[in-house]
Amino acid sequence: MGVCLSIRIKAVTPSHIGVSSKYVSKDGKDSSSSSSKVSSTSIPPTPRSEGEILQSTNVKSFGFSELKTATRNFRPDSVLGEGGFGSVFKGWIDEVTFTVTKPGTGLVIAVKRLNQDGFQGHKEWLAEVNYLGQLYHPNLVKLIGYCSEDEHRLLVYEFMPRGSLENHLFRRGSYFQPLSWNLRMKVALGAAKGLAFLHSAETKVIYRDFKTSNILLDSNYNAKLSDFGLAKDGPTGDKSHVSTRVMGTYGYAAPEYLATGHLTTKSDVYSFGVVLLEMISGRRSVDKNRPTGEHNLVEWAKPYLTNKRKVFRVIDARIEGQYSMLGAQTAANLALQCLSNEAKYRPNMEEVVPILEKLQDSKEVSRSTPNQNSPNSQNRSNSGPPKYRRRNGVEVANGRPVSYPRPSASPFYK
Ligand SMILES: Nc1ncnc2c1ncn2[C@@H]1O[C@H](COP(=O)(O)OP(=O)(O)OP(=O)(O)O)[C@@H](O)[C@H]1O
Ligand SMILES: [Mg+2]
Repeated sequence: MGVCLSIRIKAVTPSHIGVSSKYVSKDGKDSSSSSSKVSSTSIPPTPRSEGEILQSTNVKSFGFSELKTATRNFRPDSVLGEGGFGSVFKGWIDEVTFTVTKPGTGLVIAVKRLNQDGFQGHKEWLAEVNYLGQLYHPNLVKLIGYCSEDEHRLLVYEFMPRGSLENHLFRRGSYFQPLSWNLRMKVALGAAKGLAFLHSAETKVIYRDFKTSNILLDSNYNAKLSDFGLAKDGPTGDKSHVSTRVMGTYGYAAPEYLATGHLTTKSDVYSFGVVLLEMISGRRSVDKNRPTGEHNLVEWAKPYLTNKRKVFRVIDARIEGQYSMLGAQTAANLALQCLSNEAKYRPNMEEVVPILEKLQDSKEVSRSTPNQNSPNSQNRSNSGPPKYRRRNGVEVANGRPVSYPRPSASPFYK
């Protein structure tokens, strides 16, 4: 579900085919330097024409009626979630031929259907086909196909049974038990690997929309990045950045990107730091329901992150006892580095990955339990930090239980 407290940074985008578009621009232009890209990268330079993209992509072109049948006529009870682009439906196809099968048999798919009245549009649909149609990595969601028939624009993905990280972190209810510390570190590593792959020399892509709702989980909590609608080719030659409209989601965008529109892979690293902090703390990057001074997670948490002993005040009280001092401090310090105000002090994603790998491997820093995610079987080791802010299983702020509204993505005018 498009559980999104964060706010889209709106841009006025000329629509590609007359479909209204969502994002806002600071300066109204989108002067990506990517057009000059020449190299042996696996991604051909973008902008390419729509015809070129659709012809060269390695995914299937579906007819609208096929997807209608596969999703049982887009039945409301098969909605998996909703975002700015539109609704996502569960469907079924034959796993070999990719033709429509009897619902409930064959390969489960997720079908994202562009909502004509939605914020997002054809441009993001095409970017998704362009990038995901060519990039393959265990930590990127697989695009199986697309549909471009008349005014219909749809995307067909592998089905991710555990949905988005956002749901697991912020949704309350019996289905969503708090993710254990170990699972949080596993998801952080998977997402970091996906981002490191995008930033690698042979791929050179800036993701630009790294946030918890775009991290999807398979049945084993392997993380896969989805939503490449905002992705950009990285700078080429001696260029240090790509100049773009300021787009993304409020609460995740790097300060220098917001200020100048200059986009680098380090902007993604900042967003990774925000997500890591959300995972550690169980708090949303922006939460107006918190007491004054705590609305912005990064601003609130930073002073604690710089202090080895105070770091534990930031950590999600629901998972206390599941981590060691060293593990918590390492993760918090990593988040702090990624959140450096100056981009040059942030690590590269390829430096982030081994730090997170160490957090998984070492028994000293991460304690495993037989059923990691069962709240009843969580390791209540005494070596963990002191207890904070938890009353009768409900998170409390200012003496009142915290509720988590789920407003949908909405425009943010700078
Ligand atoms: N491949 C998939 N498998 C299973 N569920 C999915 C899949 N893709 C999306 N979903 C579900 O649908 C929801 C909506 O996804 P979508 O990408 O459209 O919007 P969003 O990321 O929540 O918001 P935004 O539009 O701001 O990016 C996701 O949060 C997730 O729960
Ligand atoms: Mg998404």
